[in-house]
Amino acid sequence: MTGSRLVGSGSALPRRVVTNGELAARIDTSDEWIVERTGIRQRYIAGEGETTASLATEAARAALADCGLAARDIDLIVLATATPDNTFPATATKVQHALGCNGGIAFDVAAVCSGFLYALATADSMLRTGMGRRALVIGAETFSRILDWNDRTTCVLFGDGAGAVVLEAPTSGDSAPGESAAGVLATRLHADGAQHDLLYVDGGPSTTQTVGHLRMKGREVFRHAVVNLSEVLNEVLDAAGVRAAEIDWIVPHQANARILDATARKLGIPAEKVIVTVDRHANTSAASVPLAFDAARCDGRIRPGDLVMFEAMGGGFTWGASLVRL
Ligand code: ACO
Repeated sequence: MTGSRLVGSGSALPRRVVTNGELAARIDTSDEWIVERTGIRQRYIAGEGETTASLATEAARAALADCGLAARDIDLIVLATATPDNTFPATATKVQHALGCNGGIAFDVAAVCSGFLYALATADSMLRTGMGRRALVIGAETFSRILDWNDRTTCVLFGDGAGAVVLEAPTSGDSAPGESAAGVLATRLHADGAQHDLLYVDGGPSTTQTVGHLRMKGREVFRHAVVNLSEVLNEVLDAAGVRAAEIDWIVPHQANARILDATARKLGIPAEKVIVTVDRHANTSAASVPLAFDAARCDGRIRPGDLVMFEAMGGGFTWGASLVRL
């Protein structure tokens, strides 16, 4: 059975853009190094009054407007973030209240950069089993607030933002025989806790009672990312019975342009089919996939009926992919 249908999307970015040149004026780095190693040219950084919840709410409103739904139509909010407004309650509950759809289900998912894939799979499973009719699936982050701004090996890589999609529960009429039905076709998720030390935050309520800073061994993460992502993409293609050549678009987690190139090459997918926003947004963790998806829908590249592959890998490690017919 085809899964939930993705019927709308929206996104939000902080007001302030910070270029590589501005960073180079403050720390020992250069525009050339950042562009050559990562493809990043700028990032958006949250300012006064901008939080994970405020960005998530703006993205959610845009997603609802995109598909002509009202907040009262939403009975499930799954929000992926590693930078919640507060340790608790879940940022999803703040978004729910700001939208005015109190009373349904709302919770956060923590899978760092794969968070949107985990949230999408969670919401899809809940809608398929009748726990709700319509869901907002949101990836939202303010990573700028957990960066060590004196560590040039990490602080140049990340940015803030939010992306949201609206999912609708499948109905029995969705999968007419012989018709290419819209909806989530297949999803696979993985985690490997043995890789904790390659990518983590060195603080937390139960350990240091501080928020902590992001720490990453970038070169090792890079190596794992290309292998893990190629494997999970093939798993999803097998599960859906689809060939790589049939995919219209890959919407990957935007960590590094070189990872995007290497993963597409391994699958034999041409670079023109890969949505790239890392140059503008940098790595926005759980927000990067829905932000990139919304950008490509807004500029008219991704269209109804397209076959779209989402994929991501992040801290944990966690990784996953999901194939969706729009
Ligand atoms: N400016 C200038 N030089 C720098 C900078 C900088 N900002 N950062 C590091 N360097 C230097 C290093 O000190 C090193 O110098 P040395 O050779 O004298 O020691 C040199 O540049 C090379 O450093 P590497 O770390 O080997 O560079 P690499 O080519 O591996 O690029 C990068 C680093 C961009 C981090 C890359 O490894 C990467 O993108 N990794 C994957 C990141 C990722 O995918 N993360 C997953 C998701 S994130 C999440 O889940 C939160």
